[in-house]
Parts: sequence; C-alpha cells; structure tokens
Amino acid sequence: MASVNPNFLKLASGYLFPEIARRAKLWQESHGGVELLRLGIGNTTEALSPAVCSAMHHEIDLLSDRATYTGYGDEQGNTSLRKALASYYKQHWNVSLDPLEFFISDGAKSDAANFQELFATDSVVAVQDPAYPVYVDSNVVGGRTGNWNEKASCYDGFVFLPSVAENGFIPTPPERHVDIIYLCSPNNPTGAVATKAQLKAFVDYALREKAVIIFDSAYSEYITEPCYPHSIYEVEGAEKCAVEISSFSKFAGFTGVRLGWTIVPKTLSVIEGGNEMLNKLWNRRQCTFFNGASNISQAGGLASLTGKGYEECRSLVSYYLDNARIIREGLSSTGLTCHGGVNSPYVWVRTPHGLSSWDFFDLLLDKAHVVVTPGSGFGPSGEHYVRISAYGHKENVIKAVESIRRNVSL
Ligand SMILES: Cc1ncc(COP(=O)(O)O)c(C=O)c1O
Repeated sequence: MASVNPNFLKLASGYLFPEIARRAKLWQESHGGVELLRLGIGNTTEALSPAVCSAMHHEIDLLSDRATYTGYGDEQGNTSLRKALASYYKQHWNVSLDPLEFFISDGAKSDAANFQELFATDSVVAVQDPAYPVYVDSNVVGGRTGNWNEKASCYDGFVFLPSVAENGFIPTPPERHVDIIYLCSPNNPTGAVATKAQLKAFVDYALREKAVIIFDSAYSEYITEPCYPHSIYEVEGAEKCAVEISSFSKFAGFTGVRLGWTIVPKTLSVIEGGNEMLNKLWNRRQCTFFNGASNISQAGGLASLTGKGYEECRSLVSYYLDNARIIREGLSSTGLTCHGGVNSPYVWVRTPHGLSSWDFFDLLLDKAHVVVTPGSGFGPSGEHYVRISAYGHKENVIKAVESIRRNVSL
C-alpha cells in the first residue's frame, strides 16, 4: 500500500485562512446573509495600473500573432525583467546585484515554500514568531520539526524568535546555533519594520554561525520612513549569507496575476560547497520543477518597475497605506492599542481585556460584522492580537472601522 509523507500529517488541523472563511460562512448562514466587512486576508482589491495593463495587452497581441508568438521562456525568467530588477535595486536602494542572481517565479509564496528543499533535513530552523505561516509549514513538511505541541501552540523543534511589544516586534538573533533563519520586514503580520542595525545583528550572527537568512521583502514598497532598509543587501555582508524573496503582489496588485522573484547571490559563502552553491542548486531546482513565470505577467512586472507604471503602482501602495492610517487612527481612538500600519498594510491590534485572538475575532464578527485575522494563527506570540488588513475598498474600510467604533464596547 502506498503511504503518505508522514510530515504532512503533522500540519496542524487547518490552514488559518480557510478556517477564517469557514467561521465567516457559518456566521453568515445563521444571520440571513448579513453583509460582512472583510479585513482579514491580505488580498489586493484595486484595479491594476493602466501602464501595466497596457504592457500585458501588448504581450497578448504578440502572442496572438504567429510571427511574434512565444512559448516556454527561460525557467529563471526573462532576461529583460532580471536586468530591470537589478537596475531597480541599484536605483532605489543603491544595491548592486547581478541579473543572474534574480530568479523570477509565480510568486513569493511558492519560493518561500520551496526554498527549504535545498537544505539538509537536519537543519535547525529559526523563525520570527509570529510569522507568515508558509515558512513554518514548509519546514514541517520538509521534516525539520517534531509534532504539533498543543500546549505550546507550536511545532517542537523550531527555534522561535518572539516578536513582542517589548522588543518592538523585531527579535534579536537566537542565543543558540541555527542553520536557517526566516525574517520578514516590513513584517506580516505585525507591521513592524527592522532597522539597519537590527538586520545587521542578524547578518553578523549568520556570518559567525554560518547560517542562511531567508529574507522576505514582499512589503518593501510600503516603507514610508526613509531610515529603514528596503532590502537586506543594504546591510554589508548580507550578500554572503542572505537570500531575498519578494513579490509584485502587494506593490503592483499582482495577487491574481502572479509574479515574484528570489535573489540568490553568487557570493553566498556560508553554505557547504561555498560561493555559488545555493545559486546553482536553486537554478537546478527551478529548471527541474518549474517552467517559468507567465510571459504576460512578466511583461506587466517589467512595466511596473519604471516610468508611468512605477508611479501608478506607487499610487496603489499609497491608497492601501491611507486605509491603514484610517484603521490605525479609528481603532486607536476607541482605546485599542494598535501597532504597525505606518510602513506596512497591516495593523496589529492588542485584544482588549485579555481576550484570546479567536474570542476577539468572534466578537468583531458578531457585533461589528467585521472579519479580521486572529494573531494566534501566526504563532504563539501572536496570541492576544488580531491582524487587520488595509486591503479593501476605502469605503468598506471606513464602514468597518465605524462599525467597530459603534458596536463594540471596549
Ligand atoms: C510576507 C509575505 N510573503 C509572501 C507573500 C505571498 O506573495 P505572493 O502573492 O507573491 O505569493 C505574502 C502574501 O500575503 C506575504 O504576506
């Protein structure tokens, strides 16, 4: 009889977002289809930039003509897009990277999930707590952890780096040796952003301990305060120890279009086999298991990086950041303690009166008809918080904040 990968069975009961959807649906069914205001999932809602759309239309025109039709492209992505990304890093963050260090993908989630395949099964993994769930779940499936520990609300075997109010939601490096560290700044779910000095502490640790940092910069364009780094490569030495994963989803509204990238420096030296090992292995992995990102998406991504496309995408980011401000200011005025939402589209709200994350989720659903995300779903340190997402039409965001202000007595 065939058997399944036993590590898959370790995954805790449900992925967070399907569980939220289940509860919201149940509530709606028992309340005669009352309209819910959804500020739960980080899903973009506004129309794509016209310049980006026009580039994608043009690509479709090319595909509709036999003379200009193209099929499979390079697994690593179109050279023009890899070059444009290298220029974007240089122009905006003064970071010099070789286009061949960029690997284009169908999104940051797949890359964040797949990258762990390159590491030994007995690698010790550290992760910010709370964190975007895919870092943890992919390593569970990859066999690097023990079982789900009900009492501790986490998997045994991980090194969790608590991101709590006391450290401004940015942890310090582990006090023990680890092999892989996942970091995300601006952070999903806390909305916190790491300073250069905080990232440097991790880079110094990684160089000393010969650990690899996997840095998720999917929200880098949401940084409004110029003192914060947008890329880990702004920190000297990061090119020897860090891989950066990023996305067009939250910057260009590509959540449905699908496009992301991963940078694997050829200078990454903290891995057995030395420089170029990870770059070569990731290249091998992508060529073997991935057939390249959509040529239409890549045409759109290219248009988003410069000129009118870039300006229009920046406007999209400003729109969501303004929603975040409305949420932060509106909820703070009710007496709730709110973090984030300045350099990030997420507002991290402390539950009142010591309520659990799920109890506050249920309260907001029941009294205000607002769907949020329980912080405990992102890790044990997320307990007693909920994440409120700024992705939504502004009129709905305003309605949701007003509904909480009117209907939830704190
Ligand atoms: C931190 C983080 N990384 C990656 C992603 C996924 O990005 P993509 O849509 O490119 O798969 C998300 C999506 O919410 C995210 O929050």
